[in-house]
Order: sequence, then structure tokens, then C-alpha cells
Amino acid sequence: MEAMTDKELVLLARAASENAHVPYSGFPVGAALECADGRIFTGCNVENRAYGGTICAERTAMVKAISEGCRDFARIAVYGDGKEYCYPCGACRQFMAEFNDGSMTVLCSRGTEDIKSFVLRELLPGIFGF
Ligand code: THU
Repeated sequence: MEAMTDKELVLLARAASENAHVPYSGFPVGAALECADGRIFTGCNVENRAYGGTICAERTAMVKAISEGCRDFARIAVYGDGKEYCYPCGACRQFMAEFNDGSMTVLCSRGTEDIKSFVLRELLPGIFGF
């Protein structure tokens, strides 16, 4: 099967954002995570009236992957319904680093045409380890 393009992964992230539960922020986010075996897991942000219970789109997608036995992350696309590029928050970057050495690709999009590509270690330099 042909490898998925960055834009195709962003389009899956956008589709996932349509399921977001965002009554508090009104800011839907979607993520599409591709694992090394080609499997793709999507996620959206799910907010909670006790705000700290909110989970971001990226962590939703990662937790879905982990719970299905996929922990070799290759690429994640993040789509936010705003004017700026949607970058993963600090907690999500750290969560990625739990399962990845920093080499996975992180796609941050502004709309679906404008995509910035990073590797995780650029977004999280000096990854903590012990
Ligand atoms: N959010 C994400 O889902 N991912 C990010 O990378 C940044 C923030 C969510 C959390 C919250 O539901 C809303 O966006 C506003 O912060």
C-alpha cells in the first residue's frame, strides 16, 4: 500500500476533530497517529466540567494505540480549528517521549494546506530520562 502523505494524515486529524467534546473552550482539536506497522489511530480532545480531567486529542490517539498494542510511533498529525499552527502541548510532548526516542515526526497544521513538520526532539529538546 502507498504510504500516506502528510496532508492525508492531517485530513484524518481534521475528521477526528469533528468528534471533539469542547463545551468549555470551543476549540476542537484532532490528531492522527501513524505507527511503524502502518496502523493509524485518531483522537479528539474530550473536555470535562472538572477542567483538569480534560484530555487532548494527541493523548487520546496515543492511548488508543497503546491499548491496542501499538507503541512504536512514527508520525502524528495535529489539527486545530484556529488561525495559528496547532502545536502539541507540553504534556502531550512528554507523553510522546514516554514511548519514543525523539525521532518520530510531528506535523503541526494551520488549516489543511499549511503543514510544518518537526521531529519530536526539536519540540522537546533535552528529553528527560533516568
Ligand atoms: N488541546 C489539544 O487537544 N491538543 C493540543 O495540542 C492543545 C490543546 C485541547 C485541550 C483543550 O480541550 C483545548 O484544546 C483548549 O486548550
